[in-house]
Amino acid sequence: GMKLIIDTDPGIDDAMAIAYAAAAPDIELIGLTAVFGNTHVRQSSRNARYLVDRLGMNIPVAEGAPFARGESSHAPSEHVHGPEGFGDFTEIPQIGENHTLPAAEFLVEMARVHRGELVVCAVGPLTNIADAIRLDPEFSRNLCKLVIMGGAVFCRGNITEHAEANIYHDAKAADEVFAAPPPTVLVGLDVTLKTLYETADFDDLARRSRDMGGFLRDISRFYLKFYKEIGGLEGCGLHDSTAVIACTHEPMFEMVDTGLNVVLDGPEIGATRCDPTRPLVQVCRDVDGAGVVRLFTERVSSLP
Ligand code: BDR
Ligand code: CA
Repeated sequence: GMKLIIDTDPGIDDAMAIAYAAAAPDIELIGLTAVFGNTHVRQSSRNARYLVDRLGMNIPVAEGAPFARGESSHAPSEHVHGPEGFGDFTEIPQIGENHTLPAAEFLVEMARVHRGELVVCAVGPLTNIADAIRLDPEFSRNLCKLVIMGGAVFCRGNITEHAEANIYHDAKAADEVFAAPPPTVLVGLDVTLKTLYETADFDDLARRSRDMGGFLRDISRFYLKFYKEIGGLEGCGLHDSTAVIACTHEPMFEMVDTGLNVVLDGPEIGATRCDPTRPLVQVCRDVDGAGVVRLFTERVSSLP
């Protein structure tokens, strides 16, 4: 299977993406790197280790950046993902320990060891990725590709009218990545809001996969409530899972090649803009949303 590291801030939809990757026969998950975002980085690495254990995997979790570039604090998205990142599920057990290397160094090392083969799927703020690019000029060349869940190029944002949350949380890091990107696919709200997962989908999943499916249904109640209150939506976007699926299933997406920059200040901070002066990245513009939902359910259902 495709060698994959997920850089993540679990996070409810992050947990879904990690479960999907664990279940996917075409993916070999070799590790997780944790970043601040939906919650503090200590909590996100703890949640990542909890998931690895509950999924019966034995892979490293490397903890990364606690804050955005140049910041010294972070306000987690508790109203979206709950006080500890998993909705109403709290007091998450502390299992095992983080890898001795910090996330950026771990990414650099794995890209070197698996030269040309490693795919990194970044589903949180891009701080760890920008750090890895800074740390090693070879990093980008060593990667097979980078797939990012982030941005809203053709549609409105979610954290503000202009910006998507992952890009907004560290606009500088994101802009740095787009200034000198490895081969990159961007999976933004343009497509992830076309992959809605509804209450009935969660119920079906929980029936078919009692442990993991049941867990995902339980933590998602909180998330579904948020989506209903803000958008009147009857489901939640499979944001991070859609990015993992884009790693292996490009034909399910319609992509356009464009350079990108990120607005770094003012009211539109965090907005992703097309920029003809920048190197090209592949931006997803459309998706077979029903196909993504079906694939997610089918594969996660195979878990206990
Ligand atoms: C992204 O922001 C986070 O809240 C989600 O986990 C996802 O990665 C969606 O904008
Ligand atoms: Ca995320």
